[in-house]
Order: sequence, then structure tokens, then C-alpha cells
Amino acid sequence: MKEFIEWSDALSVGVHEIDDQHKELLKMLNELNKAIEGGWGKDARKEVIDKLVEYTRVHFTTEESVMSISNYPDIDAHKKQHEILIDAVHDYIKKYEHDPHSSSYDLLFFLKRWLTEHIIKSDKRFGEFLIKSKNAKKSWFRRLFGL
Ligand SMILES: [Fe+2]
Ligand SMILES: [Fe+2]
Repeated sequence: MKEFIEWSDALSVGVHEIDDQHKELLKMLNELNKAIEGGWGKDARKEVIDKLVEYTRVHFTTEESVMSISNYPDIDAHKKQHEILIDAVHDYIKKYEHDPHSSSYDLLFFLKRWLTEHIIKSDKRFGEFLIKSKNAKKSWFRRLFGL
């Protein structure tokens, strides 16, 4: 059966560690879709959403640390995009918790669109920068990723 969101090479930023985290995020979105389609109870769905938010934070922290270490020039703008996403997700969750008619589908589709756009437009740009600086500054890259 086709998953709600599938990984494709078009989403690769060219750095394994970041691709792996993005794949994990996609998996979690598929899990949320399963929870909604399967009619899981509100608490079970909330658990899936909480895990997704937690992992998103971990992922953003990873990207931002690598950006900082590698002196990525667009770090502030990129961080801002992450912050806006976290705020938007909290708004969705608040709405979901307080409005009995709201659906977690809203959050799911919002995240699907946000994540694919952010990876393709912003994370890829960072990936290209990393690959370039990997060649220029092999030492920190090696230290960081154990290469
Ligand atoms: Fe990312
Ligand atoms: Fe990002």
C-alpha cells in the first residue's frame, strides 16, 4: 500500500545524517496518518503528535548546530523558519485540544506541505553549502560525522 508521504531522491540534501532524520520525520507523518485513518483515540493520536514534535525539535537542533559549526551564512533566516514552524504547530495543537470539531488532518497536511517545501527550498541549499565546505574544511566535517 502506498504511504501517505514517500521518500524520494528529490528530497535528498546530499548529507546522509540529515537525510536519515528527514526520513524519520516522514515515517512519523505516516504514523500520524495511520492514527487518523485508523480512528485511534484522541490520547493515542496525541502521543503520536507529541513524539513528532519532539523529534522535530531534535532535528532542528541538529541542523542548527551543524550550521553554527560550519559558519553557514543563512543560519538566522533558516532558524527563523524553524521557529515559525514550531509556533504554527503549537497553534494547531492548541486548536485541536480545545475545539472538538477540529481534525488532526489539518496538522498532518500542513506538516506534509511545510516539510517538503522546507527540505526542497532551504535544507537543500544548506546541504549544498555543507558539501562544498566538506571539501574545503575536511577536518570539522570528519570530526562531526566521523568520516
Ligand atoms: Fe530539515
Ligand atoms: Fe531546516
